[in-house]
Amino acid sequence: MRITSELTTAAPLVPDRPTLPKLTVAAAGCRACPLWKSGTQTVFGEGQRTAKVMFVGEQPGNDEDLAGRPFVGPAGRLLDRALEEAGIDRAQVYVTNVVKHFKWEPRGKRRIHKKPSAREIAACRPWLDAELEVVKPQVLVCLGASAAQALLGREFRVSQQRGQLIDSPLAPHVLATVHPSSILRAPDDESRRAERKKFIDDLKKVSRIILARFDRGHFTPFRQAS
Ligand code: URA
Repeated sequence: MRITSELTTAAPLVPDRPTLPKLTVAAAGCRACPLWKSGTQTVFGEGQRTAKVMFVGEQPGNDEDLAGRPFVGPAGRLLDRALEEAGIDRAQVYVTNVVKHFKWEPRGKRRIHKKPSAREIAACRPWLDAELEVVKPQVLVCLGASAAQALLGREFRVSQQRGQLIDSPLAPHVLATVHPSSILRAPDDESRRAERKKFIDDLKKVSRIILARFDRGHFTPFRQAS
């Protein structure tokens, strides 16, 4: 593994003719921004190279940082259940983040999530671009404003444009929805239930796109969402 410091972008670390295993190994030694110092480890994307759908979040959280896997904490569990309700098998999708290290600040004994800076997002971007190049998803789903603005532009507003198909060179079908952790932060049960339902409705759009394009014997990991 090559360890490189003082880089401003991960681009020089991305292997030629990348594969997911090669990228995972190379990213483990990434020091393109200072977040490697406070994170436990690089949390690279996870899923099959043949996945038709890629979900992109902001950055790993506390649990992901410790486990070394994306979306395995509370937000990940909410995502898993919502995917299931939308008829999508998590094992068939690729899940990653725009930033691959956990950024946090201490609060008592806890490590509290801190938003990544534009510089950190830019430094990490070559990893995401390489994941997109290898996986070539048919559907790209941005989870939350950080991912949506990083991938679709600073003007993108999840509150206004969630669930809408966006023209983008990144994939044939691109949309954004809320981040699952925003649902966990809803102020009461009623709004949490309503937000969760809207989130599942957005995921059902993804399910329908895949069914419409691939459910003719070529690709059948999705059950029909109601
Ligand atoms: N939030 C994210 O954006 N990504 C994760 O992997 C976990 C929580």
